[in-house]
Amino acid sequence: MEKFELEPKLKDEIRSRVLGDGFMKIVQSVRRGGAVFRIAMRPVEIGGERRFQAEMTDDGQVQVKNLDADAAAAGLEEILAQKGARELHLMTGRGDLHVRVTRKGRVVVSRSAEMDREVVVLPHDRVKRLPLSAFDSAALLRATGIADGSGKVRASMRGKYDQVNEFLRMVGETVRHDGQGSFTVVDCGCGKAYLTLALACYLVEVMKIPTAKVVGVDRRGDVVESARRMAAQLDLGGRVSFEEADIAAFTPPGGAADMVVSLHACDTATDEALAKAVEWKTKYVLSAPCCQHELQKALGHGRSAGGDAFAGLLRQSILRERLCDILTDSFRAMIMRILGYRVQVVEFVSPDATARNIMLRCESGVKSGQAAAVGEYLALRDFWQVTPWLETRLAPILSKHLERFA
Ligand SMILES: C[S@@+](CC[C@H](N)C(=O)[O-])C[C@H]1O[C@@H](n2cnc3c(N)ncnc32)[C@H](O)[C@@H]1O
Repeated sequence: MEKFELEPKLKDEIRSRVLGDGFMKIVQSVRRGGAVFRIAMRPVEIGGERRFQAEMTDDGQVQVKNLDADAAAAGLEEILAQKGARELHLMTGRGDLHVRVTRKGRVVVSRSAEMDREVVVLPHDRVKRLPLSAFDSAALLRATGIADGSGKVRASMRGKYDQVNEFLRMVGETVRHDGQGSFTVVDCGCGKAYLTLALACYLVEVMKIPTAKVVGVDRRGDVVESARRMAAQLDLGGRVSFEEADIAAFTPPGGAADMVVSLHACDTATDEALAKAVEWKTKYVLSAPCCQHELQKALGHGRSAGGDAFAGLLRQSILRERLCDILTDSFRAMIMRILGYRVQVVEFVSPDATARNIMLRCESGVKSGQAAAVGEYLALRDFWQVTPWLETRLAPILSKHLERFA
């Protein structure tokens, strides 16, 4: 057997799991230089018959084919014959199989515990496509520089392309709107506006919210200027606008917003965006924090917060940094929960792409000031003997809830 090759027994297992009952999805990703070649196959239903849908993504170009059982079996053989470092993930109703072939050709196999998962086979037209392929995004991708003049995604922008897709996918999963009435979004710390512009297109063209208006806010005049030029070039004038301002100093028209997004705005700018979302009575918040320095200062060397048990951890700067990131995001999630938001902390892009891949997905609609939420927050805060910046910032709204349980 050659290096990089899967054992015959493992190949047989994969064949029987893909071609047998309970198959859900197989995905193989192969890195070639800077680019990733990805092939995914899943069962679909076409005209009442079982078929397989294969989606090939090569350096950002996506091709989708519907296959009958013979063609799917042939496609699977190509997947299994692949050489080089790669990752293969197979999902079935009974559980998952994960195969990683390292750069040195070592094959590492892991299996989830046995499970009894429901297998839903969707009609082929309901299988989700990449959000950027769900509308004519060619001009957008060219104008933002994600694609070159011929429409091909640039190798250097591959990560951005994936990030925009994942972000739009999350917007699609989060927002519910009947297309009537206004829908105002504020993108806090919009930077070069890749997400702002894509979001404006997606809300109108895919989510069918013709009234959607997106405002990008950034304190850097140069990025705001270039974002305005791109919006004009794309003829998005009515849907998108940009303001040069600090998030703290910005208020949307009417003083309210339906959605606030904040991706990788630095340090406490994320807190400011969350605070604004609360003050603007925003229904949806999607926030991916960036660098977070505040707690690191508070838990610096020599500090015994958390008890001496943590001294060894806090002394190591990398571990201290990661711990502080996790604590900061936990405090944020808990404060939003106290203030009436249902909060999920999710990974929104692969950890391979960036370590900063945590997103807080918040939706208003739960009772604020619930004893359990306040109690959990106070217990964690008092254990670490810190006052998170978001608590200070939102004191006028938050303190009445905290004081009742202090
Ligand atoms: C890393 S970039 C992220 C850009 C964009 N959200 C994205 O994910 O592609 C962060 C941006 O936030 C802006 N920013 C940071 N703090 C800010 C603040 N307090 N007010 C306004 N903009 C801010 C910076 O100027 C920068 O353009």
